[in-house]
Amino acid sequence: MARLITGGSGLVGAELAHILVRRGEKVVVFAWPGAGGSATSRPDQVRAGRPRRFIRGIQRVRDNGITHIYHMGAMLTGESELNPWGSFHTNVIGTYNVLEAARLFGVKGLMFTSSIGTFDGSLVPELSDTVLQRPRDFYGVGKLYCEGLGRMYRRKFGLNFRGLRYPSVVGPGVLTPGHWDAPMIEAAVAGKPSSARWLRTRGGPMLYYKDAAKAAVDLLEAPDDRIRMINYNVGGIRRVTPAR
Ligand SMILES: NC(=O)c1ccc[n+]([C@@H]2O[C@H](COP(=O)([O-])OP(=O)(O)OC[C@H]3O[C@@H](n4cnc5c(N)ncnc54)[C@H](O)[C@@H]3O)[C@@H](O)[C@H]2O)c1
Repeated sequence: MARLITGGSGLVGAELAHILVRRGEKVVVFAWPGAGGSATSRPDQVRAGRPRRFIRGIQRVRDNGITHIYHMGAMLTGESELNPWGSFHTNVIGTYNVLEAARLFGVKGLMFTSSIGTFDGSLVPELSDTVLQRPRDFYGVGKLYCEGLGRMYRRKFGLNFRGLRYPSVVGPGVLTPGHWDAPMIEAAVAGKPSSARWLRTRGGPMLYYKDAAKAAVDLLEAPDDRIRMINYNVGGIRRVTPAR
């Protein structure tokens, strides 16, 4: 019995691995060495949870006796805009592969990480789970498709699929293009100035990476009869802009 984290070298995935390893779970990390991920600037984070193995190739789900999957691997918004074809392969085809592996090898639970980017935040003052989803960019369109695909696998194949939609996740070492909030907080803590070129950004809710990881653990552990929406928003600190 083991738990697989795709994107387990990333900001949220590495923290999730820590939580699970501390609980005594056997954790396997699926990582793509060529792909960045915020936590690659923090190899200590990735190494710290020792009883993990790094693997590639989704057939390893069978080989490693995986019972639960946390699917965190993805190209984020900025990268997806710069490289839509890569994003399509990673985020959409990658998620399809994970769903297929889960179905074929009888995985007991699959947690998918979607995004607030599946909404158009300018249309409503507050986002709830039932707000109409009209993504504005390539990344959000791909994530929305995968939410639907997971819902379909749940209905058609009985796969225990659940999804979370994160707002902007903040934590140490974030270098993701377009993510102004985490570096700005880090600069403030270090007493350093940060660039003002982001001041025109619309802003949005923020979530601490440890809370993001805990939400993933909690959602996959929730009793099945409580799972109604299937894909859930995760709240965070209310709308913030770089200016205030
Ligand atoms: N960080 C945010 O603000 C944010 C907001 C909303 C949703 N999310 C979602 O949460 C999840 C975790 O995000 P994060 O902040 O930890 O991101 P991150 O960029 O820190 O990590 C992404 C991980 O995905 C892996 N990856 C990228 N391309 C890959 C590929 N082709 N094959 C296999 N692995 C690949 C990277 O190696 C890395 O481990 C992602 O699914 C992301 O879309 C993040």
